[in-house]
Amino acid sequence: MLVNATRMLKEAHDGHYAIGHFNINNLEWTKAILLEAEAQKSPVILGVSEGAAKYMGGFKVVTAMVKALDEGLGITVPVALHLDHGTYEGCLKCIEAGFTSIMFDGSHFPFEENIAKTKELIRIAHDKGLSIEAEVGAIGGTEDGVTADGEVADPEECRLIASLGVDFLAAGIGNIHGLYPADWKGLNIDALKRIQDATGGIPLVLHGGTGIPDAMVKDAIHHGMSKINVNTDCQLVFAQATIDYCAAGKADPTSENKSKGYDPRKLLKPGVEAIRAKVKEKMELFGSIGKAC
Ligand code: 13P
Repeated sequence: MLVNATRMLKEAHDGHYAIGHFNINNLEWTKAILLEAEAQKSPVILGVSEGAAKYMGGFKVVTAMVKALDEGLGITVPVALHLDHGTYEGCLKCIEAGFTSIMFDGSHFPFEENIAKTKELIRIAHDKGLSIEAEVGAIGGTEDGVTADGEVADPEECRLIASLGVDFLAAGIGNIHGLYPADWKGLNIDALKRIQDATGGIPLVLHGGTGIPDAMVKDAIHHGMSKINVNTDCQLVFAQATIDYCAAGKADPTSENKSKGYDPRKLLKPGVEAIRAKVKEKMELFGSIGKAC
């Protein structure tokens, strides 16, 4: 069931759990995440970066694929199709293409410009029934070629953006996309408390969900992080499972190997199963299992 993300995140925030946002890259990824969300009776957010959408053939291809899989696989849990780190133009295209949720990442603009563009997109998104996430303060790491340090957002800027009517807010608290360096200082929970106080209880979004110690994730959820974005973790387990399959000689096309393990449906299966296991593990940690009943 394709829905916007407003209600699922409000319920998560009120119930002190978080909804997983899992980035998708292709049909296998999408299928794996949808099937696991259904098996666990958990609401889920499918995140799509502009780069991933381009890879898949454009926003319209993504919408058509997700809608058809949702229906074809008989998915009953709430699913939001969400643009991740969107540009202003990308947000407009996703609204047009039938996404149910967008993130406008105006964090690299001067603050006044971020405010103005966010305000405009809130009006357009809400008009069409979409939910919208905004961002204050860059999230560290590299996403689609853009690199930033692990910044901490200013609570006053968060308050101002939240007051525009945004549905959920990504606020940097030292989190970083991709793998965390060995000398990473951890999430700044005191900053999170200040941001949550300043924003009057709006659901907050934790980007860079790969590699944060479990106890720290739980602490962040307790203090208002209601959407947790995970990408690298699924990529890593998919790659490792595929490497192991090939290393075991299962894709070997020689005539002695009768299994035809090079058939893509067999070759990609261990990776898909690994993504499902990772999604389940994250849903358990985030506390979203059974919340779609
Ligand atoms: P990771 O790749 O670190 O899991 O972060 C994903 C993310 O925040 C997508 O917006």
